[in-house]
Amino acid sequence: MDLMEYQAKELFAKHGVPVTLGVVANTPEEAQQGAEDLGGGAVVVKAQVKAGGRGKAGGVKLAKTPQEARDRADDILGMEIKGLTVNRVLIAPAASIEDEYYFSFLLDRSNRRYLCIASVEGGVEIEEVAKTNPDAVKQIPIDPSTGVDAAKAREIAETAGFPAELLDQAATTIEQLYQVFVNEDATLVEVNPLARLAGDKLEALDGKVSLDENADFRHADHAAFEDKEAADPLEAKAKAKGLNYVKLDGQVGIIGNGAGLVMSTLDVVAYAGEAHGGVKPANFLDIGGGASAEVMANGLDVILHDPQVVAVFVNVFGGITACDAVANGIVGALDLLGDEASKPLVVRLDGNNVEEGRRILNERNHPLVTLVDTMDGAADRAAELANA
Ligand SMILES: Nc1ncnc2c1ncn2[C@@H]1O[C@H](COP(=O)(O)OP(=O)(O)OP(=O)(O)O)[C@@H](O)[C@H]1O
Ligand SMILES: [Mg+2]
Repeated sequence: MDLMEYQAKELFAKHGVPVTLGVVANTPEEAQQGAEDLGGGAVVVKAQVKAGGRGKAGGVKLAKTPQEARDRADDILGMEIKGLTVNRVLIAPAASIEDEYYFSFLLDRSNRRYLCIASVEGGVEIEEVAKTNPDAVKQIPIDPSTGVDAAKAREIAETAGFPAELLDQAATTIEQLYQVFVNEDATLVEVNPLARLAGDKLEALDGKVSLDENADFRHADHAAFEDKEAADPLEAKAKAKGLNYVKLDGQVGIIGNGAGLVMSTLDVVAYAGEAHGGVKPANFLDIGGGASAEVMANGLDVILHDPQVVAVFVNVFGGITACDAVANGIVGALDLLGDEASKPLVVRLDGNNVEEGRRILNERNHPLVTLVDTMDGAADRAAELANA
């Protein structure tokens, strides 16, 4: 889950990283009030969207008075930045910036460690700096088993090239940012700019944090960061039921077990769809190992309520949960759903105990269910039905 700047700053503050929280506003009036609450002086009005390059897009504006803050908020609210509508702005006191640095911690999956990227040429897009002045961008590998202690933080600050008079502050801030990264289970913590303000004070003027949703169970407080307005209602429903579901644009609902199998199912359906009016997969849904009747019913419940879905493809490879249990799951789910199950279902079962699984489905002979033996054949049939 990506956080907006104001949310990232809340996490920064929790771990002692120097930030000014400011005021979040949803309307121009709230923006004006926010600027007044901050003392009535100059502020910046900043679009809160989960996209980079807000400044460039005109989403970060200076306002000298609360009245101006209201006007700038009026300009920025409703704006689109990289396809995302701005629904709120952050009002922050205008800082007097002397220098801008770049700092981040991220997960380096391919090398199975963390990576710190730092540059004293911050403020602008780091990708640009990396192209035009690659020596100015330092990459410092972090061993997750030893992490970042005070000594390592100092080493990073020196390697990055922070000026001597800022080294102590930089090292402290780096250690705190590492606490955000590790203790909040983030996969990215980025500050651009980490600014040197008048009086040689370091402050995070911007913040980007991506949280690892797999660790949500350890962080009850992260639920508050969810953007309920932006969330797809079907995805929200699936999440509430603990399903691994992603809404897509097509007409063929997909249920499978195992992320790899579901990914290939999406490919096979997209390919089969080319011969059937260009129909496409409607979703990703991995019901995981234990495909019980209840999990199957929950999955079908979400997919059948997607108005875009015309036909459903259930693609299951029996492993630890054998095909007969899955077949019982499908039958049980259709019984649970009753009249709510109204769209054709193409089922392909293979693997452990497949004969018994097919027998159960054949015996039940549900009018909506078609059994097809191969994955390609089933994808073709599902695409055909979705195009009907
Ligand atoms: N509180 C502030 N006071 C003064 N200037 C600011 C303040 N916050 C940001 N700025 C200026 O605006 C620039 C852009 O702000 P910011 O980094 O928050 O957005 P951005 O980088 O354009 O957006 P994104 O991070 O989404 O790419 C900063 O580099 C800085 O020069
Ligand atoms: Mg920035």
